[in-house]
Amino acid sequence: MSTTLSPSLQRFIEGMPKIELHLHIEGTLEPELMFALAQRNQVALPYASVEALRAAYAFDSLQSFLDLYYAGAAVLLTEQDFYDMTAAYIARARADKVCRSEIFFDPQTHTERGVPIATVFAGIARALREAREQHGFGSAMIMSFLRHLPEEDAFATLEAALPLREQYRDLWTGIGLDSAERGNPPEKFARVFARCKELDFRLVAHAGEEGPAQYVRDALDLLQVERIDHGVRSEEDPALMARLAQHAIPLTVCPLSNLKLCVVADMRQHNLARLLEAGLAVTVNSDDPAYFGGYMNANFLAVAEALTLKREQIVTLARNAIAASFVDAEERGKLSAELDAYCLAQTA
Ligand code: HPA
Ligand code: ZN
Repeated sequence: MSTTLSPSLQRFIEGMPKIELHLHIEGTLEPELMFALAQRNQVALPYASVEALRAAYAFDSLQSFLDLYYAGAAVLLTEQDFYDMTAAYIARARADKVCRSEIFFDPQTHTERGVPIATVFAGIARALREAREQHGFGSAMIMSFLRHLPEEDAFATLEAALPLREQYRDLWTGIGLDSAERGNPPEKFARVFARCKELDFRLVAHAGEEGPAQYVRDALDLLQVERIDHGVRSEEDPALMARLAQHAIPLTVCPLSNLKLCVVADMRQHNLARLLEAGLAVTVNSDDPAYFGGYMNANFLAVAEALTLKREQIVTLARNAIAASFVDAEERGKLSAELDAYCLAQTA
């Protein structure tokens, strides 16, 4: 990408070890792989070519993206499909120096098409375990409920997944909430989140992307989440901002996603720098990189350039992700030491 960043800051960003905390695995399905899987599985796609599909990636809202995203996921049928998609993401992430990723997956997108939930778990987990063994790539799986569907469906998904818990205890540690935010407030999922809390899952939810700041408050108070996915509209509520800062509640911000979905009109208007300035635990993430024009480095470079971020701010973003990640104290220490060593080597 063209950039007016200083070459040294660009190199610093590209080489910095990173943790990704907001990534929908179905949103990593690149058009080329989508076409290959469509052919392998004899699924018809309503696009003539990879180019035609890419050309359709012009969104004016979250819903306009979700329509395409769910349609694209229709090519995913077998364990191998989920493995291939996840392995392709890991290769991209590792190229961007991502050393850990906490991954959302949406079983309901697949079970409603007749794909067994065990197939979804198995394919994603096989790729994640392989990457851990071969490259030390850390990960977690965050099973997310689709908020445009009723809470009963979320309960049914949880029931269907629980028999798999033991088998995936090394990976499946979290529960999330995604899909169309407007008109689907956190309150709609209060009971199923309470159940997930009883079951000792780590809880997160999308809030304050298109929805109001009140949804961020409700995600904290009614769903008891530990992190807020997006959360950029928190800025509309100064008392909420103070609360987020005081309790160091992480926001998993996704700059290119916000731009592509018209949450912000121009990257120079993105509030990430102001959120950081206000002392919030902001992190940078790629959300659905196959649809939004870039993986982790592209997101970091885009905000660094548009908001003229300093090296210290870039490092703060990376440190915030380490603090916010669902790792134990020993692993957190290792990730911090790795980032410290990188910073030291770069300033030497
Ligand atoms: N918001 C809500 N739901 C989603 C998103 C998002 O950015 N990406 C995939 N599902
Ligand atoms: Zn998201």
